[in-house]
Amino acid sequence: MITDRDTGTRVDEIAGGIYRISVPVTAIPGGFIFNHYLIADEEPLLFHAGKRSMFDLVKGAISALMPVERLRHISFSHYEADESGALNEFLAAAPHSAPLCGVLAARVSINDAASRPARPLEDGETVSLGRHSVRWVSTPHFPHGWESGLLLEETTGTLFCSDLFTHGGARHPVMTEADVLEPSETLRARLDFYAHARNEPAMIEKVASTSPKTLALMHGPAWRGDGAALIRALGERLAA
Ligand SMILES: [Fe+2]
Ligand SMILES: [Fe+2]
Repeated sequence: MITDRDTGTRVDEIAGGIYRISVPVTAIPGGFIFNHYLIADEEPLLFHAGKRSMFDLVKGAISALMPVERLRHISFSHYEADESGALNEFLAAAPHSAPLCGVLAARVSINDAASRPARPLEDGETVSLGRHSVRWVSTPHFPHGWESGLLLEETTGTLFCSDLFTHGGARHPVMTEADVLEPSETLRARLDFYAHARNEPAMIEKVASTSPKTLALMHGPAWRGDGAALIRALGERLAA
């Protein structure tokens, strides 16, 4: 469903009760896309607050599904404009919401930068949203950012994988089973967005062992398939 005709912002369900809110940007050469994910449940969760400049677009898309003030958790992988830029705007729009992030992100940035204290998650900690349940997977420096982590929705096997498999293009299918590794490697050849810290192989194995069925990319389509195999294939490329 298109929620903003001028930008082509749209919202689509990618798994039961999980919606991808996609903002295409054609001003970037080759095009680029910024995805935000809403888990609509008793305690609705937004993964990627998104850029401040995109707040009205993302808010408008959420409003097409539910009142924005119902949001309870504003979550993200790491502290960066496209991950957490509009955090305070969403905290203001949803008075019962709080930032949901890793312990390190809370201590290092969020409890200072955000207008309300975070609910910090330990590695492996789960939060029930109602029908859905999310687990924090702490991944320091992976893909980048000391405070990084990824979020697994356990009932659908959906991994909110942030910048993993980032690739260009403003027009992507909502969901694909086509390869996303090669297009991402093409981008990485000229713009390497991984931190390549010493723990990278361990982080690959940790994330792969969550065995996701759907990878909810921030920059690209949502991908369906053997997530563990794809993440291990990424690991081989990063190690090469
Ligand atoms: Fe990032
Ligand atoms: Fe990103």
